[in-house]
Amino acid sequence: MIFVASDHAGVDLKEKIEKYLTKCGLEFVDLGTNSSVSVDYPFYAKLLAESVLKDANGIGILICGTGIGMSIAVNRFPTIRGALCRTAQNAYFARLHNNANVLVLGGRDKLTCFNYKKIVKTFLNTQFEGGRHQRRIALIDSQAKNIKN
Ligand code: RB5
Repeated sequence: MIFVASDHAGVDLKEKIEKYLTKCGLEFVDLGTNSSVSVDYPFYAKLLAESVLKDANGIGILICGTGIGMSIAVNRFPTIRGALCRTAQNAYFARLHNNANVLVLGGRDKLTCFNYKKIVKTFLNTQFEGGRHQRRIALIDSQAKNIKN
């Protein structure tokens, strides 16, 4: 399942993406927010991370103003690989090499807003290449486990 969430600064782009997913015949779950009232993006990052992790084939699309806060927040969740993408090429390599399971976008970023259909389409249609990239992803998780505070 595709899960979609944003804060108030990403809600306009979220609506456009949802219309696009519907047009493509793709099902999704909208986790909010659904108005321009100011909200705290970490709550939506958490909601989306938990939903993606509960679903064996879960994919997330997460939007804030820049995409930066959502990226920082969502990547705190183990095995979430959130990728902030501004171009379709970013989205392609985020899936091919990084096996990203969350696409992060900036709803106030003109380049992203201009390219959002291509970015979303590329992210959803590109498969992970595996091989040496699988080893590198495993390293991310094992290194994180060994961090001593
Ligand atoms: C909200 O104004 C804005 O700070 C938020 O959407 C995001 O860009 C944070 O990184």
